[in-house]
Amino acid sequence: MILNIIKDNTLMMAPLAGYSDLPFREVVKKFGADITVSEMISVHALAYQNKKTLKMVEKSPLENPFALQIAGNDLEIIKKAVELINTFKDTIQILDLNCGCPAPKVSHHGSGSSLLKDLDKLVSILRLLREVSLLPFLSVKVRLGFDKKIPLEIANALNDAPIDYVVVHGRTKSDGYKKDKIDYNSIALMKQTLKCPLIANGEITSKEVAKQVKEQTGADGLMIGRAAIEKPWIFTQIKEGLEESVSLRKKVILEHFDRSIEFRGDYGVIMFRKNLHAYSKGLRGASDFRNLANTLSDPKETRKVIEDFFNTTDFES
Ligand SMILES: Cc1cc2nc3c(=O)[nH]c(=O)nc-3n(C[C@H](O)[C@H](O)[C@H](O)COP(=O)(O)O)c2cc1C
Repeated sequence: MILNIIKDNTLMMAPLAGYSDLPFREVVKKFGADITVSEMISVHALAYQNKKTLKMVEKSPLENPFALQIAGNDLEIIKKAVELINTFKDTIQILDLNCGCPAPKVSHHGSGSSLLKDLDKLVSILRLLREVSLLPFLSVKVRLGFDKKIPLEIANALNDAPIDYVVVHGRTKSDGYKKDKIDYNSIALMKQTLKCPLIANGEITSKEVAKQVKEQTGADGLMIGRAAIEKPWIFTQIKEGLEESVSLRKKVILEHFDRSIEFRGDYGVIMFRKNLHAYSKGLRGASDFRNLANTLSDPKETRKVIEDFFNTTDFES
């Protein structure tokens, strides 16, 4: 028998389209993220195997366990996508179904969060995935509902699905990402009902919040998204405490930058601009640094600008 993959206090890095690529996931792995997840990949793209998609399936040897997240609702296309995924059965451990994405290009086509409007369909997709997937584990990432909260209905439906764990982002699709809508009590209700482990997600930004969310929800583990873009070291902070410093930031950023360039070539410089925005938050001179970074496209020059900035800046008081 395969034991469950979720240990008590598991910390997961959230899937973040446009951010959680291989170089970024390597960074969070080094800072103690237990499980990493790919960006969401459409089953159509997998079934028709375009080059960009295959790059999204790549993982680092550091990532184990690694979850590949798919979005889709057409059973035939899903089966075709899983045929490709099965060729990675020796390196990818978890197949994750996205049932939370609010983006119109996903939810308007019956995938992502719109599966929360048809729980029978959601369960039938999970059953199909368990039947055809050769990956050892299967999981699902949900919100609390589509336009209204239905945590108990979702939890009861998922109890009929052959899954190893559920990630719950504590908002409905209609709530988008509004900070004040986060609802840990509804996650707690799901935890009391679900038979499998639950990972709580949403607005976890520090060790203190992590502790409070764990207590309030009773979750088996936590998933962190946007806070890790600014501070990928948040996983170590939660596990064992870690003093933030500008020199730590500099070290992490340069390593992340170098890996991004290796992974994407010179285009990695442009892709990295958004990371520089996040990494410079709260530092003196950040605004000028960002303006300058937005004009750069040469890797060597950009690296020098990063070094110069982080050698001289400090936390804004
Ligand atoms: C830019 C961005 C991209 C995201 N991409 C995905 C995705 O590909 N798959 C997914 O399940 N959720 C995605 N999410 C949702 C996050 O995984 C997470 O559930 C949400 O941000 C709440 O967690 P946080 O408050 O810790 O960020 C995305 C969120 C953001 C802001």
